[in-house]
Amino acid sequence: MTQSSSSVDLQQQAGKILSQVAGYVGVKTLDIGLRSGLFEEIAKHPQGITADALAKQRGFDLLYTQVWCRSAYAAEVLDVEEDGSYKLAPHMETLLLDQDFPGYAGGLPAVFTQPEMFDGLAQNLTSGKRTWWDQTSPEWIQGVSATGRAFYNRLVPGGLSKVPGLSDKLAQGARVADLACGVGIGLERMAKNYPGSYLVGVDGDAYSLDMAKERLNKVVSPDRFSLVHSPLEDLSAVEEYDVAVNNISMHECRDIEKSTANIYRALKPGGYFVISDFPFPEKTEQLRTIPARIMSGIQFFEATINDQLLPVKTYVDLLNRHGFKNVGTVEITPIHALTYGQK
Ligand SMILES: C[S@@+](CC[C@H](N)C(=O)[O-])C[C@H]1O[C@@H](n2cnc3c(N)ncnc32)[C@H](O)[C@@H]1O
Repeated sequence: MTQSSSSVDLQQQAGKILSQVAGYVGVKTLDIGLRSGLFEEIAKHPQGITADALAKQRGFDLLYTQVWCRSAYAAEVLDVEEDGSYKLAPHMETLLLDQDFPGYAGGLPAVFTQPEMFDGLAQNLTSGKRTWWDQTSPEWIQGVSATGRAFYNRLVPGGLSKVPGLSDKLAQGARVADLACGVGIGLERMAKNYPGSYLVGVDGDAYSLDMAKERLNKVVSPDRFSLVHSPLEDLSAVEEYDVAVNNISMHECRDIEKSTANIYRALKPGGYFVISDFPFPEKTEQLRTIPARIMSGIQFFEATINDQLLPVKTYVDLLNRHGFKNVGTVEITPIHALTYGQK
């Protein structure tokens, strides 16, 4: 809702700008701490470590280490003891360093600080030039996959177990497809959680599939998986899969109607399709929350690949329109929702 200037406190308005800048300082501090191993080192010292000892331990410059420590304390990710030593604030080790924790947030700074996130849009405001995954850097793909990992952690097995009847199907030894599998983190996780399953990874980006192959070859027997290089718009499978999942990618389809029709055809009768994605708010007035502000940031990149995150309702309508039965949704977190249906 719009308020008139006279009814709004000027200082409060200034605070809204300054808090954005403070948030930026926090993101950069998190990013430096995660990349340099400073957080990891501090985690090894639950009783606390001084900036001096920290700098010596890592071979870092003392002044730089002190500056980082103070900023991390200011951002409330470090606490300080009476003797001046720093330790991780409660739960920060889990949230920032445990890659398998469902609420793992340590992947976010790396992805939000990559040039792909904001610069593509800023540099092409006039031209409106778009890009695609094959034009992005390996760092970007790795960064995005760290964000995707947290989604897979919540999806497999917890999220999928909330879809009625799906756990039984997976326990029977299902043929499972990860459609837009990226670097294969979800395939690896499903292989571990559903030992009787056969896994198929499909993706439109060759580099991501190479990474997936490398990853899976280390941990999954070659007779348990295959990888397909194809856009979902050209998916040719017919009644092949018991279960198909799509993690943080369905909104990226160039032609979502064609892709959904292909996915429906690719499922065996009774097969499940689960969309695991960011639930973008339906209304502009719903954007002033922390999760919605983060999703608004992601929209900058999405725009450069010519799409936008979608509201859950759009997916519900999509699955209903394509003949899926038993369509339902599960809210996993404020930035993660499932929409599912059965053939
Ligand atoms: C945000 S990443 C997510 C990757 C993976 N699901 C994860 O969570 O880590 C999006 C992936 O979808 C793939 N992709 C996007 N649109 C696609 C399409 N229409 N067909 C096939 N793959 C697509 C991209 O190549 C990229 O690997």
